[in-house]
Amino acid sequence: MHPNLLHWIELDPSALRQNLALFREVVPPSTRLMLVVKANAYGHGLEEITRLVPTLPVDVLGVHSLDEAIRVRDAGWTGPVYVLGYIASARLGEALDHDLDVTIVSPAMLEAAEAAGRSRGSRIRCHLKVETGTHRQGMNDDELHEALRTLRGSRGTVLAGLSTHFANIEDTTDPTFAKSQLEAFTRRTSEIAAEFPGVVRHAACSAAALTLPETSFDLVRVGISAYGYWPSKETRVSFRTRAGEGSLRPVLSWKTRIGQVRDIPSGAYVGYGCTERVARDTRMAVLPVGYSDGFDRGLSRIGHVLVRGRRARVLGRVCMNIVMVDVTDIPEAAPEDEVVLLGRSDAETIDANDLAALLQTLSYEILARISPTLPRFVVEP
Ligand SMILES: Cc1ncc(COP(=O)(O)O)c(C=O)c1O
Repeated sequence: MHPNLLHWIELDPSALRQNLALFREVVPPSTRLMLVVKANAYGHGLEEITRLVPTLPVDVLGVHSLDEAIRVRDAGWTGPVYVLGYIASARLGEALDHDLDVTIVSPAMLEAAEAAGRSRGSRIRCHLKVETGTHRQGMNDDELHEALRTLRGSRGTVLAGLSTHFANIEDTTDPTFAKSQLEAFTRRTSEIAAEFPGVVRHAACSAAALTLPETSFDLVRVGISAYGYWPSKETRVSFRTRAGEGSLRPVLSWKTRIGQVRDIPSGAYVGYGCTERVARDTRMAVLPVGYSDGFDRGLSRIGHVLVRGRRARVLGRVCMNIVMVDVTDIPEAAPEDEVVLLGRSDAETIDANDLAALLQTLSYEILARISPTLPRFVVEP
């Protein structure tokens, strides 16, 4: 990569194609595929991923917010975009300006969309979020009936879809709760779908599409696994039991360069708080990356990076913009060497699950918190 760069993201489009191909194999041919690009495309870069979409088997893009949807449009995607999160009443009319589908989470939100559509003499395409047990967004039966009454007499909105989201499908190999949600969704939406032909029903995230194909309906909303990660170990086990080995490959690598190599004597403290005292003469590399870039402070003393195909442990605390790592056993390490924070270096790999395990979180959070300001490059392998 360009020698001017101190840290950057590389995106492998062949991995994205391979991961999406797995979904095309497991969901019915008539089911459309949404790529979820919220949270800066799970940290991969909203614009960079959007520009790749025309080369991918993707029908719809899913975003969380109106502003993300506008960025997707500005990046050139003219196909369907569904906004999955809440939109402030005052901005609902913008869905028409940018040709977006919106998620309706309450009768009041539908009324606001109806008013916005009427005032512009057009109809906003609405997807009603159906409560099935997640209790996050979603309407119960009474609210759904109220919304349907509005839609039947509507001039400012049109029913485009019905959706729900599973609460307990990643964390378990037991599909009982997910199946109860599936049953509730089917029961609540069958009559509505019959009354409103062409309505798109969608419920499945990555884990649902991979492990419970009956959740596919008309469209699946794929996020984490498009980017090359199993949503959880449990999902992988359930998939293997049902369909055999499926291969997913991380799309993103995160790299930096050694800024400086220093020798420090045995017994010296390293970094803020004197939390690390080296027990041998130590060769240390100083890296220009820190928690403000998304390299979590929780990786202090326990994280590793890859230098010349070998692991180097983080020494002391991760700072805002700087990390120190131990390269005593990598004597060739030199200033300007490429360092892998996420990805592969020769035979060694660090992936978002490795960091997530150290930080007691999910790959989702590791990826989504990578700073959006880092330069991102599409690199064909
Ligand atoms: C409503 C909705 N659908 C789909 C997804 C995609 O989920 P996943 O990344 O597990 O595929 C998400 C992500 O959180 C979501 O909130």
